[in-house]
Amino acid sequence: MRLSTSSTAFLLASSLNGGAAFVPTSLVTAPAAPTSSSSTSLNVASAPRVNSSGSTSSFPPGDNKAWSPDSWKNCIAKQMPVYESQEELDAAVETLNRVAPLVFAGEVRSLHEKLARVTQGQGFVLMGGDCAESFKEFHVNHIRDTFRVLLQMALVLTFGSAMPVVKIGRMAGQFAKPRSEPNEVIDGVSLPSYRGDNVNREEFTPEARRNDPNLMVDAYHQSAQTLNILRAFSTGGFADIARLHAWNLDFVEDTEEGSRYQKLAAKIDESLRFMKAIGIDTSKPEFTSVDFYTAHECLLLPYEQALTRQDSTTGKWYDCSAHMLWVGERTRDLDGAHLEFTRGVGNPLGVKVSDKCTPEELIRIIDTMNPQNVPGKLSIIVRMGAEKLRKNLPGLIRAVQREGKAVVWISDPVHGNTRKSESGFKTRDFDNIRAELRAFFDVHDEMGSHPGGVHIEMTGEDVTECTGGVSAVSDETLNKNYATACDPRLNGSQALELAFLIAERMRLRTGLPPL
Ligand code: PEP
Ligand code: CO
Repeated sequence: MRLSTSSTAFLLASSLNGGAAFVPTSLVTAPAAPTSSSSTSLNVASAPRVNSSGSTSSFPPGDNKAWSPDSWKNCIAKQMPVYESQEELDAAVETLNRVAPLVFAGEVRSLHEKLARVTQGQGFVLMGGDCAESFKEFHVNHIRDTFRVLLQMALVLTFGSAMPVVKIGRMAGQFAKPRSEPNEVIDGVSLPSYRGDNVNREEFTPEARRNDPNLMVDAYHQSAQTLNILRAFSTGGFADIARLHAWNLDFVEDTEEGSRYQKLAAKIDESLRFMKAIGIDTSKPEFTSVDFYTAHECLLLPYEQALTRQDSTTGKWYDCSAHMLWVGERTRDLDGAHLEFTRGVGNPLGVKVSDKCTPEELIRIIDTMNPQNVPGKLSIIVRMGAEKLRKNLPGLIRAVQREGKAVVWISDPVHGNTRKSESGFKTRDFDNIRAELRAFFDVHDEMGSHPGGVHIEMTGEDVTECTGGVSAVSDETLNKNYATACDPRLNGSQALELAFLIAERMRLRTGLPPL
């Protein structure tokens, strides 16, 4: 979203239970997604192949297989919750069919243009946020702190690499989680796994683990509030580059990267003073606001379908739940429902790939998700651990180069590096994350391709969920503030440390001296 001066005029529309979303006056369309009332396949975890509902769409142009917002129901949908009551599900989807879109086509297109430049080596993508947003952790301070650390990281990266940084939060919709086991067993009791706050609840009780479609509506409202806060922070002075020092988090001040950050901030302040002295107006939006976009895993398809709307100006379909959507490692099957759904929407897309993905498979995924090879449409988010990455990434890059595909290569150095501590915490070591990032940059250097971005799980808070880094969280101190609803996140200081590391690699590539 151009969270600063969007070309679109916004009006504030109240959403149903008090949340709010911004609606552009030019794009108020009737709910376009077909309702589920006639459907029987929506609540089926692995839907059998059934006949299409008959709805047709010519999008994407040139593609001869009909697509509609519900054509995914003709495919196997992995990781989909089974709901007890079709009626309850239909009612929730019907409510979502009528809510205001969270993001708008113009914003989505502006992100797409930025990503297109990254495919040409002109820019770097920073994606970050919680593994899973939660209802319990929802607080304006939590959003503010994560946003602040993302801006600090972006600043380090922009100044360090001398390149535009595309800022994307895993925020305002990152609720649904894929699980490797359908059930969780504790002390001999087996209950359905927790699948994210928009599906069921974390507490280990049969009531909490019941899949409740109304949670999708609650998640929508929380997303609307989150976006409202993000939009305000992006333009309301919080993101003013002259307030750089005010962005500092107290806990990074005593750390090594905290003081490096202070030094960098001082350099930027000096540059701003110089600009002012020569007459540049630093009160302009370029200095006082930021473009910030949202993304989440496109997993819970009834939710995504219900938020999918047709743009009144272009006739294209957009999933208005986020600017960008990615398909996870577990649901990226070529003939699966998640690729079927995403291939028809106009949003920029991502796909996660582990070492299980072969070069041939990757090319087929690209042909499905971006059949016209539009630059900026598709990002390949690589997550395999350093060792496997050194072995497998060259083949994937070679195939993409050979086929002339335009993609953004993004490193997710966290999902291939999860381990269990002796005390039973799911954690990640900073050293392993750093090693995977190094490998990512090394391979791109060797292959002559552009390392286009990083995707991490992080928070602005001083949590103790990942070990290592100069913040020195250890296995013994994980229990001090372990708060994640799902995977372990880097804390603010670890995230900043990573930003310096990346900035230094980017400088090396462009021949600039170290920071
Ligand atoms: C995630 O991003 O939280 C996730 C589940 O990723 P992956 O699909 O790469 O495992
Ligand atoms: Co995760």
